[in-house]
This record gives sequence, structure tokens and C-alpha cells, in this order.
Amino acid sequence: MFLQFSLHVFEELASTNQTLWEAIDRGAGEGTVVIALQQTAGKGQWGRQWVSSKGGLYLSVALEPDLAAENAAGLTIATGWGIAECLRERGVPVALKWPNDLVVGERKLGGILTETRLHKGKIAKAAVGVGINWENPVPPAGINLQSLLAEQARPAITSLEMLAAIALKGLASGYQLLVQKGMTHLLPKYQSLLTNIGQPVVIEGSAGVIIGVYPTGELRVRLHSDSAVAREISLQPGAIRLGYNR
Ligand code: BTN
Repeated sequence: MFLQFSLHVFEELASTNQTLWEAIDRGAGEGTVVIALQQTAGKGQWGRQWVSSKGGLYLSVALEPDLAAENAAGLTIATGWGIAECLRERGVPVALKWPNDLVVGERKLGGILTETRLHKGKIAKAAVGVGINWENPVPPAGINLQSLLAEQARPAITSLEMLAAIALKGLASGYQLLVQKGMTHLLPKYQSLLTNIGQPVVIEGSAGVIIGVYPTGELRVRLHSDSAVAREISLQPGAIRLGYNR
């Protein structure tokens, strides 16, 4: 595999991302993985809490990508795509919701939180945190894998350990694609799993439609226009909430 993983498993942590950064500060290198069976202060996107009771997958992976700082979003896109692909290969119909959600239908199965440290305009270190609902209780807009797999006669994923291995394999394959082939190669693959394509949006009173994602990770929106020339705009992650209908 592209990354050599070294696993560190804990019963309970505040946040695997936090413990991973502490390990990195003590010299832990690329491929270090911190896993917790539960988190007391799991971090989600936009400063939210990631509720992390027992039964879910909570892990963080150290990467040293040597990418330009402006390509940080690529790490989330690449690893999210890789994990989704690996789950799909096992019969789980996972799609992606921009920028970092793993979804099944309209429900959130998991998410990715990438944190980076920059040096001279480059990403020197990154902690990619992955949370996937396995058999933990989830809110109404969420779904866990166990409830999905219960409908399958012979489920392809049978334990939390197996899910961890699949997530790590997917993360590594997405990261490898990003590092070796770049965003232009990865983006069509990510977009093919993106549920948001074609979704209508209203931006500052103007109606438009999501048509994709730029290589920088920004959302690509075409605004409807009366003139023959369509106008495209880009939106930063966080600039628009593409909510769940629950
Ligand atoms: C999101 O909001 O969708 C991202 C959630 C990311 C949660 C994971 S769980 C493991 C890792 N450690 C954290 O504190 N957060 C991430």
C-alpha cells in the first residue's frame, strides 16, 4: 500500500485529531493512525461537536503531503472519495455531499475533518480525521452502517475492525491518487459520486444550480441569467449550507 500505517488504539480520547497532533509534536510521522472507541470532545466541521459514543469509527491519520497550501481541500476530497469507493466496492451505496460528507440517500453516514499545518506556503503536516457511524446511535438526519447492512443477506462488512481497515485502505488509495495524479485526475471521480450536482441553490437572491467543484475544492455554481452568457461563481466550504432534509 502507498502508506505504511502504524496503529494506536485507545479506549477513550477527547478527540483522535487532538491526540494525533500531540503525537506528531513528539515526532510521529506519516501513516501514524490514532483510533478511539469513543470520543468525549470529537470535532466536526464548522466548529461543531462530533457526537462519538461507543460503536462508531473514530480515527485520524497523519499525512505529510508536500502540497501547496491552497490545495488543502484536495486532501478531504481525495480521502473522502477513496473511502466512499472502498465502501461501494463492498455493496454500500455511499455517495458524497460537498465537501466532506459520506451519505447514503439523504442521510449522513460519516464525515471527514482535515486539519493542516503550513510551512513556507506548503502543507507540512495534516491530520485527516474520519468518523463513520457503525452501530452507534445517530440523529434523524444520520444513518449507521449496521442498519443498512441488516438488509443484506450476506453483509460484506461484519465488524468495526473490518470497517476501520476498509476506511484506511480507501483513505490511502484516494491520497495516492491525489499525490501521484493530481486534482485534475481525481475531480471527475469525486464529482461522479457527488449528490449535489444539479441541485438548485439561491445565492444572495440569485437562483442557480450546482455544476461541480473547482480543483481548489470550491463549489462551482452556474447562476441563471436572462442574457445569453451564463455566469459562474465559486463558493468556499462553509459559504453555503447544503442541508439535510430531516
Ligand atoms: C464532519 O463534521 O462531517 C466531520 C466529522 C469528523 C469526525 C472525526 S471522528 C475522528 C476525528 N476526530 C475528531 O475529533 N473528529 C474527526
